[in-house]
Amino acid sequence: PQMSTEKLLSRVMEAEPVGSRSKVTVVGVGMVGMASAVSVLLKDLCDELALVDVMEDKLRGEAMDLQHGALFLKTPRIVADKDYSVTANSKVVVVTAGARQQEGESRLNLVQRNVNIFKFIIPNIVKYSPHCILLVVSNPVDILTYVAWKLSGFPRHRVIGSGTNLDSARFRHLMGEKFQLHPSSCHGWIIGEHGDSSGERGCSGQGWVERACVWMNGWVW
Ligand SMILES: NC(=O)c1ccc[n+]([C@@H]2O[C@H](COP(=O)([O-])OP(=O)(O)OC[C@H]3O[C@@H](n4cnc5c(N)ncnc54)[C@H](O)[C@@H]3O)[C@@H](O)[C@H]2O)c1
Repeated sequence: PQMSTEKLLSRVMEAEPVGSRSKVTVVGVGMVGMASAVSVLLKDLCDELALVDVMEDKLRGEAMDLQHGALFLKTPRIVADKDYSVTANSKVVVVTAGARQQEGESRLNLVQRNVNIFKFIIPNIVKYSPHCILLVVSNPVDILTYVAWKLSGFPRHRVIGSGTNLDSARFRHLMGEKFQLHPSSCHGWIIGEHGDSSGERGCSGQGWVERACVWMNGWVW
């Protein structure tokens, strides 16, 4: 005789609603958002990952890709929605949403477009995760980090911009190439704004890195 599932599986205890302890949200599932999400998952940094974007189809597709890879990950819960309630109780919220730079457009030109986007995003994050740390990546990052700080009303130690971390990582890679060493053994920072003005006026961030390396060459040898 056919056995019902209820007879085969008996409940031994009730599930305890523990909630997440280290939830991370990524806002914007573009190139940068998905790179961040994959990095967080592979480094096993959270027990729940939430994704938000305004493009619902893209959001669903990206979330499904991550969920289907769950077998190879340790993070038990990956959720996505355009409604910010999905982000509730995040410890860290990474903001990568926004318009991208067009060919030849400076990061500073992006500012008004992205400030308008932030006026919607930041209050929603704050509403659902009033104690989170905001990590801003969208460009122009230094300006938008300031905007996020003002819009959130958070203390300044809870609003962090990625700043010149990317420029510095590039610099350390180039040094590594030059010295035939791993970048972790090469130390240095690119300082200033993450943008066209970092280092030297009228010179792109990448250009500055190269110039810094040229300068390093002249100085070291
Ligand atoms: N700080 C850095 O070092 C650094 C490095 C690379 C890129 N960036 C910046 O990061 C941002 C993202 O770059 P990308 O290459 O991923 O761009 P992208 O165009 O691939 O992705 C942007 C995403 O933001 C989403 N978006 C737009 N408006 C939104 C809103 N109101 N709410 C939620 N999502 C919204 C879009 O739908 C899109 O999926 C850009 O501003 C870019 O300049 C910063």
